[in-house]
Amino acid sequence: MSGRAARAVRLDDRRPGRGDILADAVRGLAAEPKRLPSKYFYDARGSGLFERICEQPEYYPTRTELAIMREHVGDIAAALGPDVRLVEYGSGSGLKTRMLLRNLESPVAYVPVEISRTAVSASVARLGSLFPRIQMLPVCADFTTPIALPRAARAPRQTVVYFPGSTLGNFGPDEALRLLRQMRSEARQGGGVLDGGVLIGIDLVKDRAALEAAYNDAAGVTAAFTLNLLVRLNREIGADFDPAGFRHSAHWHPLAGRIETHIVSRREQDVHIEDRTFHFTRGEAMLVEYSCKYTLEGFARLAARAELRVAKVWTDPARQFSVQWLVAA
Ligand code: AVJ
Repeated sequence: MSGRAARAVRLDDRRPGRGDILADAVRGLAAEPKRLPSKYFYDARGSGLFERICEQPEYYPTRTELAIMREHVGDIAAALGPDVRLVEYGSGSGLKTRMLLRNLESPVAYVPVEISRTAVSASVARLGSLFPRIQMLPVCADFTTPIALPRAARAPRQTVVYFPGSTLGNFGPDEALRLLRQMRSEARQGGGVLDGGVLIGIDLVKDRAALEAAYNDAAGVTAAFTLNLLVRLNREIGADFDPAGFRHSAHWHPLAGRIETHIVSRREQDVHIEDRTFHFTRGEAMLVEYSCKYTLEGFARLAARAELRVAKVWTDPARQFSVQWLVAA
């Protein structure tokens, strides 16, 4: 038996605990206007609902990004070169990652950093059996907090941080800039001879109707995904939200360049968490998610502020979505 095949995959579990969720929830509910962090959408049910959002006819980003990958994965793999240590922020269903790993030349390791333990375990179980020669180094953690990530057993040529799905859109401008800088420094670590780079999926600005439809699917999956946040807080920190007393609302704000998703109180009501009471007026909106969209020029400007240069851009023919290869400027 080869040592490589015998290597056990051990999950490095640094998942946020009840205390983190409680502190974030109480801070957000005490703020004016109220808000809750979108990263807590992704419990087991939330991750499942997100997979279903990706299958809705109105939600174009996932299928468009996949089409770009299908069309250009050979080119993308050539840009990244051989012996890559691939770090991924958020591991999702792993379909795009599978295409990338299959096309890269002798990648050394795959390091997914994912907040949902069920999602990251399922993803490395699948990828590990498909790619027995690639070292699987899963980390269950909130990728927005910088942490030291595992090194690969074999030295890589470079580390590539893969951040697909336009997840960067969930962050406002300051936080997005901070994350790009973190990715740049992550790419320079990990023992490669090159400085590394960032392969990122970025959703592009388009007309209001298409954008709002994507976040208000007719089947109501996005609404269920949004309101699941309240169900999770009830279960995990003992809140007493009545999910039926709230509704999902998502609108495009052209000046800010983003979809803003709110949870709106259908009536005047109180919500309790431990010994605290939070009052909602009828119609009060609590911000739960940004989905920022970029123009190609706008994103290049943001990347430049993080000392990253856009080396390559791949888009679909309708220019709905982009996959971009960023290197140290
Ligand atoms: C996974 C963050 C890219 O903002 O489009 C989908 C999440 N929220 N529908 C997005 C989401 C509502 C999604 N990202």
